[in-house]
Amino acid sequence: MTRKDHWEQVYSTRLAEKLGWYKPRLETSMSWIAELGLDKGARIIDVGCGASTLVDDLVDAGFESIAVLDISDSALAISKKRLGLQADMVMWLSGDVTSTTLPPDYFELWHDRAALHFLTEPEQQAQYRDSLLKSLRPGGHAIVGAFSSEAPPKCSGLPVRRYEPDQLAELLGSDFEPVRHHKELHVTPGGVEQMYVYCQFRRKND
Ligand SMILES: C[S@@+](CC[C@H](N)C(=O)[O-])C[C@H]1O[C@@H](n2cnc3c(N)ncnc32)[C@H](O)[C@@H]1O
Repeated sequence: MTRKDHWEQVYSTRLAEKLGWYKPRLETSMSWIAELGLDKGARIIDVGCGASTLVDDLVDAGFESIAVLDISDSALAISKKRLGLQADMVMWLSGDVTSTTLPPDYFELWHDRAALHFLTEPEQQAQYRDSLLKSLRPGGHAIVGAFSSEAPPKCSGLPVRRYEPDQLAELLGSDFEPVRHHKELHVTPGGVEQMYVYCQFRRKND
């Protein structure tokens, strides 16, 4: 089964609200985004958006240039349906973050909760980092959430790489300045505890 097959099956056979990573609202992400004080026209991308409600909250906050990317068309379809007419205000990108070509120096903010950690091979991680570096404009921001070292070794039945903030900083490299990090306990709808780490970075100016 390919990665895409896995994710299509997840989102086409299970209710989004029952998935292990489900949170009604991504509060930490939204509060960090609010604190950035971005213009409403700032270009934002949510990578591995799944069926999360971050896109709804960004639209409600008045952001006008939101893109979401996911490997699963079924996940995108769930969010599109939920958003109704507001879906037209969002750019929907279907693809694998390691191989999708994104516009260069384009985004002001890259957000990812729980997508990077599925990239367990150094080559995939380097591709992710390259995509982030190329598409984020200098001075732009990245908020990345992943399983931390205390979390289980698998998510959605797939092996994950777990991160401490310094390991994430090392992966992104010297083009990125760490700004802050925060650990947060997530309890799945089934009652399993998973510790996440959220890290914020700023792409240095060239
Ligand atoms: C654990 S879910 C998190 C979803 C969402 N960010 C949230 O917080 O609810 C991981 C998401 O990443 C997507 N994904 C996994 N690997 C991906 C890849 N290589 N490229 C793009 N999306 C990917 C999956 O389809 C899934 O929607």
